[in-house]
Amino acid sequence: MPAPFVTFEGIEGSGKTTQVRMLSEHLKAKGIAHVVTREPGGTPLADEIRFLLLSPREETVFPETELLLYEAARAQHVRSVILPALSSGRAVLCDRFFDATSAYQEFARGLDRESVDRFNLFASAGLAPNLTFYLDVDPEEGFIRLRGRGTRPDRIESEKMEFHRKVRQGYLTMTSRAPERFILLNGAPPPNEVFRLVREAAEARFGW
Ligand code: TMP
Repeated sequence: MPAPFVTFEGIEGSGKTTQVRMLSEHLKAKGIAHVVTREPGGTPLADEIRFLLLSPREETVFPETELLLYEAARAQHVRSVILPALSSGRAVLCDRFFDATSAYQEFARGLDRESVDRFNLFASAGLAPNLTFYLDVDPEEGFIRLRGRGTRPDRIESEKMEFHRKVRQGYLTMTSRAPERFILLNGAPPPNEVFRLVREAAEARFGW
């Protein structure tokens, strides 16, 4: 079986980054070769695009521009990090992938599904995750967690609550459309409790 490609999704403050770290520690302890990465980012160029995307700015950023920048970062990341890792037998744990584009640029920004799907496919070279954990939290709860971090909100985090509600609704819709790929978890409980479910699912699916 080729090495698994596993992604983590959720709104801001859903705890996905913590779960990626916990699963990586678990895999390390079991001696399972893997790479941890994130989108947008994962390569020097993609990290620069991330900076462009997330910096607060005066100029209006049109949804089409935003879509293409996320896809540009993804095209670079897939070809220089994810595909080489998978083909050398290392699993990949990725903090966000193309479902984030559907949730944010399609469901929340309002771009049409056909365009978003087409660019997702183009940027990801046809690669799709084997398993996606979606950590569901209420946007109000997510924002309480974000504020607790004490960092300045980035351009997307600064969007209105209504935007983040649409993102969440988008994820819930996608989860119900592809139940064989998504695992929907309640992101509200403490990280250890959420991780028990992540580990059980990963073990059932990949023997991890
Ligand atoms: P992060 O904060 O989880 O690292 O994600 C960066 C931000 O970019 C987050 O607000 C979600 C957003 N995003 C999109 O809008 N579209 C995408 O395709 C990706 C990968 C992230």
